[in-house]
Amino acid sequence: MGTGNHPVLFTIFGGTGDLTYRKLLPALYNLIATKMLPKGVEIIVVGRRDFDTQSYVEHIKPWIQEFARLSFSENIFNELVSHLTYIKMNFTDTKDYKVLYDYYNQYPQAQQLYYYAVAPEFFSVISKNLRQCSCLKNASTYQVLIEKPFGVNEDSARTLHKQLLEVFSEESIYRIDHYLGKEMIQNMMSIRFQNTIFKNIWNHHSIDYITISAYETVGVENRGSYYEQTGAIKDMVQNHLFQILSIVLMDEPEEHVESLFKNQADIIQRIIPIEANNINEHLILGQYEAGVIDHEQVVGFHGESNVSPTSTTETFAALKLFIDHPQYQGVPVYLLSGKRTKKRSTKVLVVFKPVNNQKPNVLTISISPDEGVFLSFNAKKPGNSQDVVEVSMDFCQSCVYENRLNTPEAYERLLYAAFNKDKSLFTDWQMVLSSWRFVDKLFLAINQSGIKPYKYKAGTCGPVELEAFFPKNYQEIDTE
Ligand SMILES: NC(=O)c1ccc[n+]([C@@H]2O[C@H](COP(=O)([O-])OP(=O)(O)OC[C@H]3O[C@@H](n4cnc5c(N)ncnc54)[C@H](OP(=O)(O)O)[C@@H]3O)[C@@H](O)[C@H]2O)c1
Repeated sequence: MGTGNHPVLFTIFGGTGDLTYRKLLPALYNLIATKMLPKGVEIIVVGRRDFDTQSYVEHIKPWIQEFARLSFSENIFNELVSHLTYIKMNFTDTKDYKVLYDYYNQYPQAQQLYYYAVAPEFFSVISKNLRQCSCLKNASTYQVLIEKPFGVNEDSARTLHKQLLEVFSEESIYRIDHYLGKEMIQNMMSIRFQNTIFKNIWNHHSIDYITISAYETVGVENRGSYYEQTGAIKDMVQNHLFQILSIVLMDEPEEHVESLFKNQADIIQRIIPIEANNINEHLILGQYEAGVIDHEQVVGFHGESNVSPTSTTETFAALKLFIDHPQYQGVPVYLLSGKRTKKRSTKVLVVFKPVNNQKPNVLTISISPDEGVFLSFNAKKPGNSQDVVEVSMDFCQSCVYENRLNTPEAYERLLYAAFNKDKSLFTDWQMVLSSWRFVDKLFLAINQSGIKPYKYKAGTCGPVELEAFFPKNYQEIDTE
């Protein structure tokens, strides 16, 4: 049973979509395999394609075999599908909801979760139809899980929020940012707040600068037209990188979710806006040209399908930010994200102020694909000399087989948290609002200044103009 001994009804709208096949169903499989799925969960998959439950089950088997983290077992798969029902319906058609209503009626007083694995323009229509069909009435509690993007600017985010609030309370809205489900993002709080050595030096007296980077070797894949409308700032910085930034710098929260949300949003609200007159010191945009990645020739952004050959959308963004917080005065924070770069990697570097002209101590929190924490520091070179050399302490969490096996993937962790009504892994509305406010102002400054993306070759580290943008010692610190 879910929380409060009620049956749990988990409905996925968009049950024949990429997200459901690659992430949600494999995550449910893993939760069953690790005995983390609450008892009494029924999974209702909504799609308009012509499946019945039996043919849908046959269809999803290869996806689970390919994408589940844990090895495939017929027994676990059978357990999953014994709780799964496919409902064929068009979610824009009010009449079709009768089937859902009848289904839900079998489980009065259920904990109901609706997962909107659909494009955001459908959030409002599904919510209204759920209310209109009286589907919500029988539930003991309900929660709605929604995927990014939460709007494309402050206005559209507000509209979306208002539409959802017509049916759901803020308490029942779970906004997914899958980065919050990643192991090392969660670990970041333990590293910061459970170690004297870090807690006491996490300020401008000791920190020289911070970089938060998320690089991908892939291009726009089959999402050319979406990406052309979106770009790196809205696709990565506004959500994922701001989430990481807030966790890296927030004040230690009290042990309740409101305090966590308040402290996270506080950091985003304190970012000093970038203005048109100083934009070149704070922002570099880039766009990839054809190049070579992993020995393969790849096309440039303009050659991608469904992208205009004159598009000025950025596929790379580097922001140099300052936070108006007494603890971090004068500490630049670099946010970096790009597609078609040399290497796939997401990580945080905290670079401390050097002493006696030695190399700075660097704390690296590696988020993906490797997970771990690495601290470099200076020590005497072994032997008779008094020379100083850089050494490091490594905690490679993902190098240990048991750790890999026992570490849930992001969607597993997020679904588990949602079943248990733990909102701490989800994005609060104030965070969404504050981040769009910053990004809207940034785009105003971009338009006023007329800055355009620099070109960079696919398979490199981004535009060459970055060299002058970074602190002098950055190239020798981040050698990837
Ligand atoms: N894919 C990812 O890894 C990923 C990651 C992060 C966020 N997201 C977000 O998650 C959402 C879903 O993404 P996706 O990649 O899974 O999209 P998708 O592959 O296009 O799937 C959309 C789903 O909605 C269904 N649908 C559309 N209109 C319908 C209607 N009127 N009635 C019933 N079903 C309808 C589609 O059914 P048909 O099969 O019949 O077309 C399909 O099952 C989007 O908001 C996306 O931005 C996705």
